[in-house]
Amino acid sequence: MKEQLEKIKSEALSRMEAAGSLDSLNEIRVAYLGKKGELTSVLKGMKDVAPEDRPKVGQMVNEVRELLESKLEETKAALMKKAREEQMEKEVIDVTLPAKKIRMGHSHPNSIALSELERIFVGMGYEVVEGPEVEYDLYNFEKLNIPKGHPARDEQDTFYINDRILLRSQTSPVQVRVMETKKPPIRIIAPGRVFRSDAVDATHSPSFHQIEGLVIDRNITFADLKGTLQEFAKELFGPETKVKFRPHHFPFTEPSAEVDVSCFKCGGKGCRFCKGSGWIEILGCGMVHPRVLEMCDIDPEEYSGFAFGIGLERIALLKYEIDDMRLLYENDIRFLKQF
Ligand code: DAH
Repeated sequence: MKEQLEKIKSEALSRMEAAGSLDSLNEIRVAYLGKKGELTSVLKGMKDVAPEDRPKVGQMVNEVRELLESKLEETKAALMKKAREEQMEKEVIDVTLPAKKIRMGHSHPNSIALSELERIFVGMGYEVVEGPEVEYDLYNFEKLNIPKGHPARDEQDTFYINDRILLRSQTSPVQVRVMETKKPPIRIIAPGRVFRSDAVDATHSPSFHQIEGLVIDRNITFADLKGTLQEFAKELFGPETKVKFRPHHFPFTEPSAEVDVSCFKCGGKGCRFCKGSGWIEILGCGMVHPRVLEMCDIDPEEYSGFAFGIGLERIALLKYEIDDMRLLYENDIRFLKQF
């Protein structure tokens, strides 16, 4: 038995010594230490050894097994190290080669303008909310004091799903939705896509974006509206910017105004940009009509407020001096890359 063990030991050790790969090393492990391996079968033969010799033989077998196992680990580690070194030698990396350029996308001019606007109004304590693009006639017109047959409907002809549901022609219906669900004080802006059945040209598109603003509280006056929009214009176009309120008419505000800012290009002298007038129109606004408040269950005796509507594309075109709105929608990468 002793000779047999010696033979197994020296044979296994020399085979391990010669093993050239992890695979062949594994084969050797199976051949000696596996379930049907040579050493294992010696163990199984213990029952034929005289009882008094068993401890001695058992100890010998264990010693051989431990030796083989540790030699196995050692060889394995050496083979792995060798394989790694060979791989490293093969995979030479030339760190002086120029790296591949990562092509990063970036924000669309509309998105840049919108984040700027949101930053300004959130800074004044406004909350940003959204409303649906598919809207009820009731919210888009009726509750904004634009009943069936009102001439304001002609300017905002849109796409109808049926006679009650349409694609919103303005973000103003979000005012109604907010007033119906929230108690004053209300201070929100509502950016979003709007639709009109307009033919495409340099200043029109059947789909564009607006940002609605609404403030409702006790004692809100036209002075609050003026101060707010003055601040907004200065933040957006620079501290020198002046604003001008021109009387106008919107069915859901009374009084109403359109707001012009002094031309940020020429400072008001008159240039190609402001078509010689020194002023550029940027939004519509007014004090929320008492009838609109009533239709939204807000008591006009207790509360008042103002609203405004800004065309997002108009701001983006102005800020980036783009003279054709169509460029914003064509997704020509050569155009978009400039901003
Ligand atoms: N909804 C108007 C439009 O699309 C813009 C507007 C004007 C919104 C005055 C307002 C406002 O909230 O007070 O022409």
